[in-house]
Amino acid sequence: MSDPILALDNVSKIFGRADKPVYAARAVSFALHPGRTLALVGESGSGKTTAARLIMREYSPDEGRLLFRGAPLGRVDARALKAYRSAVQMVFQDPFAALNPTHTIRYHLERPLRLHQKRLNAAQRQAAIVELLERVKLDPGLIMSKFPHELSGGQRQRISIARALAVNPEVIVADEPTSMLDVSVRQGILNLLNDMKAELKLALLYITHDIATARYVANDIMVMYAGQIVEWGDVDKVLDDPRHPYTRLLLSAVPDPDRRFDDIRFADELGRIDDIRRQAALPQQQVIEADDNHFFLPMPG
Ligand SMILES: Nc1ncnc2c1ncn2[C@@H]1O[C@H](COP(=O)(O)OP(=O)(O)OP(=O)(O)O)[C@@H](O)[C@H]1O
Ligand SMILES: [Mg+2]
Repeated sequence: MSDPILALDNVSKIFGRADKPVYAARAVSFALHPGRTLALVGESGSGKTTAARLIMREYSPDEGRLLFRGAPLGRVDARALKAYRSAVQMVFQDPFAALNPTHTIRYHLERPLRLHQKRLNAAQRQAAIVELLERVKLDPGLIMSKFPHELSGGQRQRISIARALAVNPEVIVADEPTSMLDVSVRQGILNLLNDMKAELKLALLYITHDIATARYVANDIMVMYAGQIVEWGDVDKVLDDPRHPYTRLLLSAVPDPDRRFDDIRFADELGRIDDIRRQAALPQQQVIEADDNHFFLPMPG
């Protein structure tokens, strides 16, 4: 496998008072590789969006560090931060909130091109906008001068993807990119992300509640429980032979692959969630290797 573009090394994000810490993410480590998709699954509140915000640098890690192209991302290196900001782009859950209602689609794509590809002249920018729209399978002639409210949810999500692509990113973080869309258009958005990943050699972090789609788009998967990654590895190995009790619970609750588990709370079935989140220090947990590229943590005692 090629070297990772981006890695989290033992990253924690802690909320709450210093004497009463609550770990939204705890000692999270993973790496994103070009041309590969990593899925992050877990129930509501498990810490998935916290991980996304850490990657987007909306939060800085309370513990641990981010590595970009192998080097730790410091606070002071303005040049590395700028490169990071254009290399790492996000596609949000809500395609309605993500676009500005007062601006046309052309504006939404022209802006990142102006900011990040300064050497393009007006004609080249126009050509780039056409190319971006074609990439996301929208008709430039029909779409360019429209406003967001004139588009469907699926079309807006395609614009969000085009906008992310406008800066030539290497990493895309997609946090539940289809959960607010009609079921009928979800597959199309997933296929598009898949194609982009393959054609542009993007590293994709796909965050979802939906195990069936994780299996469909991802090479590797991580299962998050109470802020920790408790099981990870090859998507088929993890889903066909789950080892951590939490992964088993998630899967047992979705015998029907089309069923989603975003309305179900299992963590309390294991009876440990608050306990785990609030413990300032967990006992050192040894990673168990179940198979090649399949690992899990034992439940803390
Ligand atoms: N700004 C914050 N202040 C305090 N607690 C927070 C904050 N953001 C998140 N949390 C807590 O951290 C935990 C993880 O939240 P997060 O939003 O990362 O979960 P999630 O897995 O994305 O959930 P969902 O599936 O509902 O989107 C939750 O218990 C949440 O209440
Ligand atoms: Mg979330």
